[in-house]
Amino acid sequence: MNDSESLKRIAGEKAASSVEDGMIVGLGTGSTVYYTILELGKMVRNGLKITGIPTSKATEKLAVTHGIPLGSLEQHHSIDLTIDGADEIAPNLDLIKGMGGALLREKVVASVSKQLIIVADGSKTVEVLGTKSPLPVEVLPFAVPAVLRKLGDICTQAEVRLRNGYIYVSDNGNNIIDCRFSSIPEPEKLEASLNRIPGVVENGLFLGMADRAIIGTADGIKLIE
Ligand code: 5RP
Repeated sequence: MNDSESLKRIAGEKAASSVEDGMIVGLGTGSTVYYTILELGKMVRNGLKITGIPTSKATEKLAVTHGIPLGSLEQHHSIDLTIDGADEIAPNLDLIKGMGGALLREKVVASVSKQLIIVADGSKTVEVLGTKSPLPVEVLPFAVPAVLRKLGDICTQAEVRLRNGYIYVSDNGNNIIDCRFSSIPEPEKLEASLNRIPGVVENGLFLGMADRAIIGTADGIKLIE
C-alpha cells in the first residue's frame, strides 16, 4: 500500500468509529470512503446493526459485498450520519466533490443527513476552493452543448468528462462537465450562477454541509471541525 493509500485508509477507518448501533448511515463514494465501508462491514459482522443508504451503484455493490444492510430514501426520511470523501476541503469545510461522478446522489443524501463527516488524505485540503480540483457539473445530456458554451464564459476551462475515450455517463444517465478555475473566492455566488443555467442538474460545490473532516496525514489523523 503506497503512502497516499495508507493515509486514505487511516481516515476512512477512523470515521467508522463514529457510527453507532441503530443508525441510518449515508455511504459516500470513492477510494477513501471505501475503507470506511470495509470497516463498517467488519463491524456489522461483529453485531453492529445499521442501515446504509448508498450514494452510487458502485457503493451499493461494495456495501452488499461486505454484508451491510441497505435501505432507501423512501424508507428513511432522515439519515443519522453520512460519511463521504471530497476532492477539495476549505478551512471552513466548504467542499468540492464529484470527481468520482456521484455528486448528485451524494448531495441529495448529504442534504437529509443530520451529520456529514468527510474523509480524505492531506492532499485534499486547500486554502481557497478551485485551486487544485476542477468543479464537476452534472448536466442533462440534451443540454450539454448549450451548457458547455455558458460554462466556458464562467470558468477558465470547461471540458465534457470522458472515460475510456467515451463521454462519461453518471448513475443518473447524465454527463459531467469539469470546470477549471484559478480559484473560487465566492462559492455561493458561483453556485447561484450555475443553478440558473437550464440543463445543469447539480454542481459539486457542497457549501455549509460538512460538520467534520477526518484527514489522514503523515503525522496521523487531523480533524477539521
Ligand atoms: C465522488 C466523490 C468522491 O467522494 C471524491 O471524488 C473523493 O474521492 P476519493 O476518496 O477517491 O479521492 O465526490 O463523487
